[in-house]
Amino acid sequence: MVQAFCRDSENAVSLALDLNVEIGVFNATHLAELRRAGPTFVFVDLEHDADLGLQLIRALAGGSDQVPPTPVVAFGPPASAELLLAAMRAGVLEYLPKPVDAVALREATDRVRPRLAPLVAGSHGHEDGKILAFFSPKGGSGSTTLAVNTAINLHQVTRRRVLLVDLDAELGEISLLLGMQPKFNFVDLVQNFHRMDSGLLASYIEQHKSGVHLLSAPYHPDRAATVSEEQIRKILRYLKGQYDYIVIDTSKSFAPTSLAAFEQSDQVFLVATVDLPNLRNIQRALPLIKRVLPRPTEQVRLVVNRYDENQEIPLADVERTLGLPVFATVGNDYEAVIRSINSGKPVILNGKSVYGRDVKRMVRLLVGKPEQEELSTSLMHRIASAFRTPKQSQADIRGREDGRG
Ligand SMILES: Nc1ncnc2c1ncn2[C@@H]1O[C@H](COP(=O)(O)OP(=O)(O)OP(=O)(O)O)[C@@H](O)[C@H]1O
Ligand SMILES: [Mg+2]
Repeated sequence: MVQAFCRDSENAVSLALDLNVEIGVFNATHLAELRRAGPTFVFVDLEHDADLGLQLIRALAGGSDQVPPTPVVAFGPPASAELLLAAMRAGVLEYLPKPVDAVALREATDRVRPRLAPLVAGSHGHEDGKILAFFSPKGGSGSTTLAVNTAINLHQVTRRRVLLVDLDAELGEISLLLGMQPKFNFVDLVQNFHRMDSGLLASYIEQHKSGVHLLSAPYHPDRAATVSEEQIRKILRYLKGQYDYIVIDTSKSFAPTSLAAFEQSDQVFLVATVDLPNLRNIQRALPLIKRVLPRPTEQVRLVVNRYDENQEIPLADVERTLGLPVFATVGNDYEAVIRSINSGKPVILNGKSVYGRDVKRMVRLLVGKPEQEELSTSLMHRIASAFRTPKQSQADIRGREDGRG
């Protein structure tokens, strides 16, 4: 039922993880999986073992110093006022009597959605998500391809909410690379921004099979002119509260809207191949980009695309000429890239390749150590031991999580 519900894009809910296990055998490994998936909320079925289910809900909904709370929607037997009350006390957002149908799920998720926004924003430990902008100083250097593959791998590695934004209003090609035909685009969002909430936002955003969300560029280039710098700023600020990572592919011109996007970005990736036209354009672009960034030395990342060890201009010369270190290189991998274009499947999802390997390496550099996993391990042990003694009181479990037990 839940699976079918999530497959219907109208419902704007996607399945982050399906843990098809009975509550009685739910263990530390499952909990770790759940933490890794980082869902916005969890459905828990209380029918088979309400006591254990309630313990899990308390642990999830309560969170701890280190792990943010995970909101829960519970299913349970109908007409059980006692269980409903216990579930509410344990911290569920909604209790749905079984059998549950699509209409009930839709109504419940619609009710829950407005209450999730602040939790989602708080769930990555800081208020805002990170914006990563990709830019080719010279057209055709590979920014779109790299933005798409980076976004997908970021989601694979972190299981966080990742949004791809196509700001290339003239040539928006992301949907093509993802094999998608989006119904809405950035301009629709701009026009309705005054009444935006997370529910409405979800209706403008499409979900790719990989789990990455997409806000596409307008299909008709003439509609692009209706977006102002201030609108870009406002929307990106809003989106930061809704997503953990926002990956933007900018247009290759120095449109004021591109600069407005850089200004909101945590990192700007200059994707260039090593040749004179590219180097010259980077030299021209750098002062403009640096002007809108508060900490340009940390924020500008040079990525050498189609890198070949035997290239005429060595990387050291590139770095010296530009006064900029090379953050990462991506190998020249014509075959893998073409195969992916022809199959409408991004390189990173299309089997092993040099391109995929290099994107993964860059993403690892970006996210640093998988600290999230380390954090959840300690909580995992605490909850696992709580599960071994099912009669333990809620206060006791809470105390342990706080490190007081
Ligand atoms: N590492 C790579 N190896 C081989 N081919 C690549 C590589 N990166 C990109 N390409 C190819 O180069 C072409 C341009 O790539 P892409 O569209 O990503 O660049 P862009 O900078 O977004 O271009 P535009 O200026 O048109 O927006 C595409 O045909 C793409 O498949
Ligand atoms: Mg492009």
